[in-house]
Amino acid sequence: MTFQTELDPIATLVEQRLDALLAEGENAGTSNALAQAMRYAVLGGGKRLRPYLLIQSAKLFGVDERGALDAACALECVHCYSLVHDDLPAMDDDAVRRGRPTVHVAFDEATGILVGDSLLTLAFEIMSGERVDQDTAIRVELISLLARAAGWHGMALGQALDLDAERNDLTSEEVAAMQALKTGALFGFACEAGAVLGRADASKRAALKDYASALGQAFQLADDLLDAEGSAEAVGKAVAKDAGRGKATLVGLLGVDAAKARLAALVVEAEAALAPFGARAITLVATAQFAVSRKR
Ligand code: IPE
Ligand code: IPE
Ligand code: MG
Ligand code: MG
Ligand code: MG
Repeated sequence: MTFQTELDPIATLVEQRLDALLAEGENAGTSNALAQAMRYAVLGGGKRLRPYLLIQSAKLFGVDERGALDAACALECVHCYSLVHDDLPAMDDDAVRRGRPTVHVAFDEATGILVGDSLLTLAFEIMSGERVDQDTAIRVELISLLARAAGWHGMALGQALDLDAERNDLTSEEVAAMQALKTGALFGFACEAGAVLGRADASKRAALKDYASALGQAFQLADDLLDAEGSAEAVGKAVAKDAGRGKATLVGLLGVDAAKARLAALVVEAEAALAPFGARAITLVATAQFAVSRKR
């Protein structure tokens, strides 16, 4: 069985649930241009890898699938928001995402900003819902972890440092630290949320965090390699942007061959972190391999 045949049914479930969650809001009277643009930003084309990771991490502990699915949808809303804002003219100024015009191109810039605002807050609305977990303390913990992963100590800080990397020369350590925030933070949340829902002990939770840290680095390094070597058609977004903007990346600093060697080492590191779970972690091992071999 290939990884894609594992991922596809879960990606479909996530997509259907996101559709239903958006429809709930629309039925409550918010069916307007903003709602339409949110729908455009969320549905269609994403790999749904972060939700998949959350659901698979939760599965290690036998968590109820319905709860993990809603937590996964909340996380995907944050991710989709981050992409809409990442593409804005003030940031990466990209016109194509997931093989289609970006939100600010298909709609307009103000709508792009508001779609991001609305998806970020929708994420917390979803995470506060009883479907995620009956225990309020668990939901509050997830909300707190997601807020920290997304915000000024996590992804948003990483995005700020990423923009600095267009203006300043960074060392490879500084680039790795930036990527751990801009990309690693949400991967870390995905795995940690599975552990929280599963009432995992501290050592299992730490093991999943170590795995996510290596995976997040590998995922962004693979993204930078796709930017350097991939075709826009296959990747579904513009390529050769990082070098074009003079952005410091590990591919630029280390060269393609050393970057690929580092990628292989990160997969080994990710797999090693899963040792405490034995054969039950086979899907997470496959996720790490997919993260570095993917073509989009
Ligand atoms: C793109 O993430 C942003 C990065 C962190 C590199 P994905 O490659 O997961 O994007 P989608 O959701 O599949 O479009
Ligand atoms: C984006 O990194 C990471 C985010 C937090 C959105 P990139 O800017 O490299 O992502 P792409 O290449 O536009 O998807
Ligand atoms: Mg960017
Ligand atoms: Mg970008
Ligand atoms: Mg990129």
